[in-house]
Order: sequence, then structure tokens, then C-alpha cells
Amino acid sequence: MVQKTKSVWFCSSCGNESPKWMGRCPACGEWNTMVEEKVAAKGASVRKSDEFSPGTSSRLLSLAEIDSTEESRITLNSAEMDRLLGGGIVEGSLVLIAGEPGIGKSTLSLQIPLHCQGLKTLYATGEESAKQVKLRAARLGGDGSGCLIYSETLVENIIAEAKRTEPDLMIVDSIQTVYTQTMESSPGSVSQIKECTSMLLRLAKDSGIPVILIGHITKEGSIAGPKVLEHIVDVVLQFEGDNTGAYRLLRSIKNRFGSTAEMAVFEMTGKGLREVSNPSEMLIPMHGQGLSGIAVSAMLDGSRSFLIEVQALVSSAAYGTPQRSATGFDVRRLNMLLAVLEKRAGFRLGVKDVFLNMAGGLRVSDPACDLAVICAVLSSNFDFAIPSDVCFAGEVGLSGEIRPVSQIERRIAEAARLGFKSIYVSAFGVINSNPAGIGIIRVADVPSLCRKLFREEKR
Ligand code: TYD
Ligand code: MG
Repeated sequence: MVQKTKSVWFCSSCGNESPKWMGRCPACGEWNTMVEEKVAAKGASVRKSDEFSPGTSSRLLSLAEIDSTEESRITLNSAEMDRLLGGGIVEGSLVLIAGEPGIGKSTLSLQIPLHCQGLKTLYATGEESAKQVKLRAARLGGDGSGCLIYSETLVENIIAEAKRTEPDLMIVDSIQTVYTQTMESSPGSVSQIKECTSMLLRLAKDSGIPVILIGHITKEGSIAGPKVLEHIVDVVLQFEGDNTGAYRLLRSIKNRFGSTAEMAVFEMTGKGLREVSNPSEMLIPMHGQGLSGIAVSAMLDGSRSFLIEVQALVSSAAYGTPQRSATGFDVRRLNMLLAVLEKRAGFRLGVKDVFLNMAGGLRVSDPACDLAVICAVLSSNFDFAIPSDVCFAGEVGLSGEIRPVSQIERRIAEAARLGFKSIYVSAFGVINSNPAGIGIIRVADVPSLCRKLFREEKR
């Protein structure tokens, strides 16, 4: 019998399904993201509502009845990965590692079995041949005896093999290459990705095997990006940073078993990814060089505090309209800060080009970096280097006031640990402890900051 197929349209950004083409996805509001795919017509297999029989699948439980013992977790023998996952990978969970091609997803996931002796791992690879995986493993070093490589892309086979071998962990590299026979569309299409992920989710939940999926995203987050999967999986870890530099950031953007807003830093070396346990070291590279346009900010990201270097370049606009560009920082916020400097402190920056860069390819959203941003801009504008033993933590308000930021004690402690002598903070916050006793310079607004920082230093 010929199986009937029908066309449906999927949004490649959010996975929303629609019976007809639309210019704009009604679910996520993105334009031009609907793609046509052929799927098997459901027809006879749909269960009629009168056949519904309550009580056959699962029964009602009161909250008190439900078992509340902690999920059991498997440690991955990597301090950073375990922390990101909230203390090891939870049994029966589905974890997505997403990132641009070439950023290190395969390397990271292959390192897990190599670093965990005795962890039986099934590594299903559709991207690379078994031999390529072997060559990579040889380069990474470690004990590969517990790692079973399975070069297969049919998801039914992968699931059958997982049930047969009962591994402690399964890795699927990548979700874009696997496909299921029940769908007509090609591997990598939205319907295939959604269906394969649901099948792997069922495997994980039924068997208790944790499954790590690898998913590619393109720069535009386009065609069947893992965005489609985010609501199906339990944990999403996303690689950030540009893959030309050595440093890679892995951020947890969803975690049903731990905190999000956690991040870990890795360095790509000749022998795979190395954990960077002290990110401040890479984030303040030019520290102490006496250059203008550099200010160090004490920031928080997730549960970590570290210092990051903010670099600015201010120059006379070469063309009519001044340019403003920012890497790793919201350019609208930069414009706002420049407007504050112009209006509240009288600096004529409206005729200048301003370029801003956060060290290490990090994307910063902590408002505490405002103070370092304006100091870097002013430092470049006056061509006056900020002393290397000073750092900053404060939010800048629209009226030019410096506002207090959260967890200032942790920022101060991190600054002290890295040998900074003083930190500029808001005059309004309360500081409960400063065990290292570094200098705390309180500033109320932008003019008083300039008086303290630039006048005092010039003397
Ligand atoms: P890979 O893990 O294959 O990326 P992805 O799976 O995300 O596409 O990593 C690819 C890059 O990492 C590649 O450009 C080579 C580099 N690399 C190293 O620098 N050192 C190593 O030890 C390994 C294994 C890869
Ligand atoms: Mg890969």
C-alpha cells in the first residue's frame, strides 16, 4: 500500500506547524521562516475521542504521595560540566549541546567517556566515520575502553542498540543527521528533528539512560536550529564565543535539574578542550600594560564572579554620521551610556566614533559593567590610562547616578583575590564585608566619578 503523504509547513525558528504557508510565523513572529515538508498523513491511526479510557496510562497522585527523593546523577568527572549540569548528569535526562559548526561540540562530548573510566558510553555518530572518531580520541588521550562507537543515522537502530547494550550514557552526534523511517522528509528537516528527539526522549525516560544530543545552529539560527528542540529537552547547553579564538564559553540556558545562567569556560588546545577554572585570567589580557581605553569590570555571570576587561576606542568621526559599534555588549545600552555622558557630564561624544569590545568574546548583560564601560570610553577619549590596580562595579542610571549592584561583596572579594588595590562602587549601596580590606571608592554620579578618577590620578 502506498502511504499517503501531505504537505505541512514548519517554522524553522520555533517548530510551529501550520497547514499552509504563511509569511510570518504566528507563534514566534519571525518572518520568512516557514518551510514545506512532506509527512505521512495520519488518517486511520488517529484515536477517536470516544475510545478514550481513563486510568489506563497513569493515575492521579496527590503531591504528598509523589516520591521526592533526589534524582540520581552520574558525575562526568569534569568539575565544569558537572557544575553546569547542576551536579552531574541526571539519569533519564535529555541534554542538548548546541553551537555553531566547528566550535567543539563533538570534542567536548567525546571527552566525557574518555575522562570517565568505567562509564559505558554509546556514541552514535552520523557526522564522522568510526575511524575519524578514533583518530580524534587518540588525539584527546584518555581511556577509551568503555566507549562504544556506533556509526548509524537511523534512529530506530540507535534506540534498539541502546536497549541491547544498556549503556550508562548515550551521545548522539548530531541530531541533524539522524532520521526516522516513519517520516518522509529528509534528515535535518524540522519534522525529522522533532520526531527523532521525541523518540530519544522516550528512550531516556523509559530506560533511565541519560542522552546527550548534539545540535548545530547557524549564525542566523536558521534552518531547523536547535531552537525547535529547546522545549522538548531537559537541559540546553550552548556554546558561545567565536571559534577562531581559543576560548569557548558553554552556557546553560535551560536546566530542569539545576540553575540556568551558569557558564563554563574552555580553552581549545592541541589535545582537546581544557577547563579554565579561573576565567578572570583570560578575560583581563592587557591588564597592567598602561594602555588607555581599558577598564576592568567586576562582573557576575550565573554563580560565578570574575573580572573582565572592557576596551573602548573613541576617535573623531571620519564620516558625517559617527559610528557606534559594540562586541559583546548591547549597542543600544552603549548609546544610552554615551547620551548620559553627553547630557549629564557635558562630554562632547556626539561627534565621535565609539567602538567597544568585551575581552574573550564574552557577551555581557550584567548592568554592573556600565561603570567600566563609561570609564573605558572616557579613558580613550582623554587618552589617559586608568591605573592597572583599579576596577569597577556599578550601574549607570539615566540621570547619571551610579546605582548599586547585586552581590557587591563577591565582586569585591574576586577583585581582591586578583590583586586589585581598589574598586569603584556606587555611593548608595550597603557593603557588609570586605575581608581583604581593599580600597572602596564610592561614587554617587558621573561627574564625581570623573573628579575622583581622572583629576586625582593626574595629580
Ligand atoms: P569539533 O568538536 O569537531 O566541533 P563541532 O563538533 O562543534 O563541529 O571541533 C572542531 C575544531 O576543534 C576544529 O576546528 C579543530 C579543533 N580541535 C583542536 O583544536 N584540538 C583538538 O584536540 C580537537 C579534537 C579539535
Ligand atoms: Mg561535530
